[in-house]
Amino acid sequence: MGPHIFLLFVGLTISLGDAALQPAPCDKSRKVFTEGWGVITDGPFGSNYTQDSHCEWLIKANNTHKYITLSFQSMGTECSYDYVFVYDGDSFSAPLLGSFSGKTDPQNITASSGSMLILLYSDTNYVLDGFRAEYSVTSCPGNCTHQSQGMCVVNTCVCEGDWGGKDCARRLCPEDCGATLGRGSCHLGHCRCSPGYSGQSCSLHRMDPSGNR
Ligand SMILES: *[C@@H]1O[C@H](CO)[C@@H](O)[C@H](O)[C@H]1NC(C)=O
Ligand SMILES: *[C@@H]1O[C@H](CO)[C@@H](O)[C@H](O)[C@H]1NC(C)=O
Ligand SMILES: *[C@@H]1O[C@H](CO)[C@@H](O)[C@H](O)[C@H]1NC(C)=O
Ligand SMILES: *[C@@H]1O[C@H](CO)[C@@H](O)[C@H](O)[C@H]1NC(C)=O
Repeated sequence: MGPHIFLLFVGLTISLGDAALQPAPCDKSRKVFTEGWGVITDGPFGSNYTQDSHCEWLIKANNTHKYITLSFQSMGTECSYDYVFVYDGDSFSAPLLGSFSGKTDPQNITASSGSMLILLYSDTNYVLDGFRAEYSVTSCPGNCTHQSQGMCVVNTCVCEGDWGGKDCARRLCPEDCGATLGRGSCHLGHCRCSPGYSGQSCSLHRMDPSGNR
């Protein structure tokens, strides 16, 4: 026990004290969320994320039948250098749901494994504002989008009327398949197009050059 060990200890305490005063930005650690709803962000709005960061957020639902939907409210990372990765599970070997970079808010992302792992990775250069996203844990995918579009029954969406898809977000026969214009008609939730027409809503015509642009 020499005097320098004591000095080292004092030095450590002082630097830890400094760190505690910083507004906790994203700091190469993993934050775990177990609430049914929450906000995930790399730091306060208007402050840049730090260079060379590797920040993880793990959202854990109470059971594996739950769905976790992530909805971005803002996004700003250095395009094609800094990324937000989203995994359907609690490790980096889980399926990758998406990797996002740049300034466009990604669409809603849903994990179906009961966990979602998010990673912000940035290189050592140029930094930007980062992102802010909300998550919610629901019993059905995307909470069946909206009450008027579907209902959640034992972890499965039962869609209303002409809504379909796992989360009832997709119109089954968009624009009624152009039925009034003779382009097609709706059969069992799919458009059956008249000869010469194609596309999800039968809006493309073989002779129409705009469809081939
Ligand atoms: C998980 O269960 C705990 C205790 O029952 C509860 O407080 C918490 O809100 C639940 N979380 C979710 C995401 O449902
Ligand atoms: C964030 O980074 C950008 C580009 O590197 C810079 O122009 C801006 O001033 C920074 N903002 C803050 C609050 O540091
Ligand atoms: C995305 O999720 C948010 C929050 O749950 C919801 O308000 C919004 O309608 C969703 N957007 C789409 C296109 O489903
Ligand atoms: C899910 O949908 C139900 C019924 O539409 C609604 O009562 C509930 O608040 C929604 N939950 C979330 C997290 O949006």
